[in-house]
Amino acid sequence: MSETTTEPEGLARARAKMTDAGVYPAAIEAFASYYRQLEQGATGQVAESDIEPLTDPPRLTDVELGPEQAADALARVAVIKLNGGLGTSMGMTGPKSLLPVRGEQTFLDLIIEQVRHARASHGVPLPLILMDSFRTREPTLARVAAHDDVIVADLPVDFLQSQEPKLRADDLAPVDWPDDRELEWTPPGHGDLYPSLRDSGVLQTLLDAGYAYACVSNVDNLGATPSPELAAWFADSGAPFALEVCRRTRADRKGGHLAIRRADGRLILRESAQVRDDDADAFSDTDRHGYFNTNNLWLDLRALADVLAERDGVLGLPMIVNRKTVDPADPESPKVIQIETAMGAAIEAFEGAQVIEVPRSRFQPVKTTNDLLVVRSDAYSLADDGHLEAVADPAPVVDLDPRHYKLVGDFDARFPDGPPSLRDAASLTVRGDWTFGADVRVVGDAELADPGTPSRVEPGTELS
Ligand code: UTP
Repeated sequence: MSETTTEPEGLARARAKMTDAGVYPAAIEAFASYYRQLEQGATGQVAESDIEPLTDPPRLTDVELGPEQAADALARVAVIKLNGGLGTSMGMTGPKSLLPVRGEQTFLDLIIEQVRHARASHGVPLPLILMDSFRTREPTLARVAAHDDVIVADLPVDFLQSQEPKLRADDLAPVDWPDDRELEWTPPGHGDLYPSLRDSGVLQTLLDAGYAYACVSNVDNLGATPSPELAAWFADSGAPFALEVCRRTRADRKGGHLAIRRADGRLILRESAQVRDDDADAFSDTDRHGYFNTNNLWLDLRALADVLAERDGVLGLPMIVNRKTVDPADPESPKVIQIETAMGAAIEAFEGAQVIEVPRSRFQPVKTTNDLLVVRSDAYSLADDGHLEAVADPAPVVDLDPRHYKLVGDFDARFPDGPPSLRDAASLTVRGDWTFGADVRVVGDAELADPGTPSRVEPGTELS
């Protein structure tokens, strides 16, 4: 493009690097536009005075559609799971989907079980398609090969999302890291779903094969099971795009919320990074802003193809500036900026987008080892259809000492015989370095204080 001559050196180098790596042209243009925003110090803030709260969205529990209508709708749905992330917050370097959750069964195994079960119960093809990144594709496909019955003839099992250079925080040049060239790159966040779906050809393949809708969700959310009721609601709504939302509680007050933009009446998401200091109270007021995005969403594939065609594949989602080190495992390595976008933010790009309130059980994210301990424990039981059913309701609140349990390797080493029993627990707080023996049971609220040296919780102990 002609602008190349006038663009900043860092961007020109990033562009050349992406071109050499074979990144799709639309992804390069999207990156370039975010780069310019970054350079100009864009903040992407959304003022409280420019939005109105979302109130009384439709609720899944109120949907009344017959089972036949539901199965008809589900027959036209493809399931897409976001599998490009690595779970770096838990110190992972491989796909989070391959982390064992129940015994040897991983997130991916359980998702495949959920899809198998929905296919058999409703007599639908329900293809499962993963969005992989250059970091996750190989190991994931090796695992999928063990479940070859899940592959639908003539449809791909995955598509690859784009990649972009990490930028040096000091001068915004693409970082140079000869120790491990792969670490110079990052997937650009799950907002990359839309152009990648189109540019990989998968969007057209699905349309040609007669699929009308996709339900998309995070690979670490085992609550987002294929739902015939939601499929029927979405088909009936005629909306181009819908987000599943949940009631925001006090515990969710730091996370983002849905709102309605006054200027054009469109639904938008507002994340904490987009909030001005003087709006902080309104932002965290969960009575005022009562709903959050579960990142489970529904797409009308035709409408998506049309919107992308109108905009040359670039939806112009709000930019998220993620600050990390080039080697996430080495805090001394150079500081970098990763430009990302979030999938749910596309709600503002679709006229007529809708939301639906779903029960909290459709939102079971595993972001930290605290969450992992709970889903691995007997606070949940594994149902025949591959979903995790809450045994303890509400789920216990776990708070493990980040110095010893934050990274999944350290965490596993401290529970060599599996998690303690949490079904009768309200909370477990652990300070210091404790290794748990077999058959430990937590009842009510339990707290282990820091003993100062590595210590053991003896087998069979009841903590209360
Ligand atoms: P998160 O942004 O919550 O990231 O991704 P994460 O995988 O938990 O990892 P860290 O700890 O922030 O590094 C939510 C979902 O989006 C996918 C992830 O795989 C996860 O299923 N994702 C994220 C992508 O597919 N691509 C991306 O570029 C980023």
